[in-house]
Amino acid sequence: MADASSVTNAPARGRFSSRSGFILAAAGSAIGLGNIWGFPTQAAQNGGGAFLLIYLAMVFVLAYPMLVAELTIGRLSQQNPISALRNLASGPQTRRIATVGGALGVCALSLILSFYAIVAGWLVAYMLAPVCQLLGLEELAGWFTGFSSSRNLAMMLVIMLLTILVVRDGVSSGIERWSKRLMPTLLVLLVVLAVYILNQPGAMTGLRMYLQPDFQQISPDLFVNAMGQAFFSLSLGVTGMMVYGSYLAKQENLPATAAMVAGLDTLVAFIAGLLIIPAMFVAQQNGVTIYAADGSLLSSDTLVFTVLPAMFDTMGSAGPFLAIGFFALLTIAAITSTISMLESPVNMACEQFQQPRRKMSWLAGGLITLVSATVVLNFEALFGLVITATTVYAQPLLGMLYALLLMWVLKRDRLLNELKQGFPELETSLFWKIWPWYVKFICPLMILLVFIH
Ligand code: TRP
Repeated sequence: MADASSVTNAPARGRFSSRSGFILAAAGSAIGLGNIWGFPTQAAQNGGGAFLLIYLAMVFVLAYPMLVAELTIGRLSQQNPISALRNLASGPQTRRIATVGGALGVCALSLILSFYAIVAGWLVAYMLAPVCQLLGLEELAGWFTGFSSSRNLAMMLVIMLLTILVVRDGVSSGIERWSKRLMPTLLVLLVVLAVYILNQPGAMTGLRMYLQPDFQQISPDLFVNAMGQAFFSLSLGVTGMMVYGSYLAKQENLPATAAMVAGLDTLVAFIAGLLIIPAMFVAQQNGVTIYAADGSLLSSDTLVFTVLPAMFDTMGSAGPFLAIGFFALLTIAAITSTISMLESPVNMACEQFQQPRRKMSWLAGGLITLVSATVVLNFEALFGLVITATTVYAQPLLGMLYALLLMWVLKRDRLLNELKQGFPELETSLFWKIWPWYVKFICPLMILLVFIH
């Protein structure tokens, strides 16, 4: 059968070998530090169950429709993100906008990788520290857990190297193969750790806080935070999902497949909450301080790098193994995400410059490593700035642009035909009655409202 590559004479492009392979890889992209660290911390700070409810609503009403849109753009043309976006255009003007939007997306995604690799490196360091302690290498353990440029640089390099090695091997023999190994491991680790923590004294206080909504905490800010969290968690708006969509077979039902990905992502965030929030109260029971001086719960970096390690220290001989398991969980979650961040620039470079994947993996990966090293060496000035520029601005704004191009510029019958290939009953489905109209008007409006706020 002739596929897109033989028609356009482009070098053969990869594709996922099965539906489950795609779902695991896309869920691997979605499930990351945002789920296991970001979501529980935000929930702990923003009224527990109240945040959970608003977050679920945001995933359902905003993030899921946008995910279907981004995957559709990729699969429509089965080309790299820039070509895929240009393919939506109807004239020279929209073509230019699409090109710039695509290029900005690939740049933003590369920048996301440059800071994410640093954070992921810290997690590897915290996984190796208890190993060193068990081996009596106290000094090395101290280097792993102390904040220094040398540690940050070395660990970031480890993450980038692993990421490049997977992406280099291609879509099905690199990304898909590793997603199939790592994602089940992640799920098992997560469930085992959650069950263990829930059986510790103090856990029930945390569980109550997580599941009982405190509606007094609901505020406009909470909506903004929940929306940002949902966008980040589903890897939206910067071509990461678009490129995965371009490797999905035409006969797959895209709305249903995307629902699986969003569902898995949300499920893992929910279970991570069952682990992290009770763990904070187990830590308190064991004498670790979990509230800051102003009465708020300690969160983000202090939570992961101070509170939880202190809790593991109070858990006797099981402690180091729990610590290793916990940071291994975070490392795995991070690596399946960094893979998806590198894939888009690599695919773009291969197709735009007609170069082999191996070479482009080292080139794009190497360039991003240099950017990341610059961030490490100018940490105070750049780290927060890069995070804000990419996740607060680029993700929602570019996501909005892509959705507008898909819905306002592309002919509606082309969209219908694209989705019908894997979903023959599409025209009569509830999805088709709501989704196009919804992504055309409501999603951009919601994103704008949040910006005005
Ligand atoms: N979604 C991942 C997480 O929750 C991170 C991630 C992967 C991402 N790919 C992305 C974020 C693309 C933004 C854009 O940690």
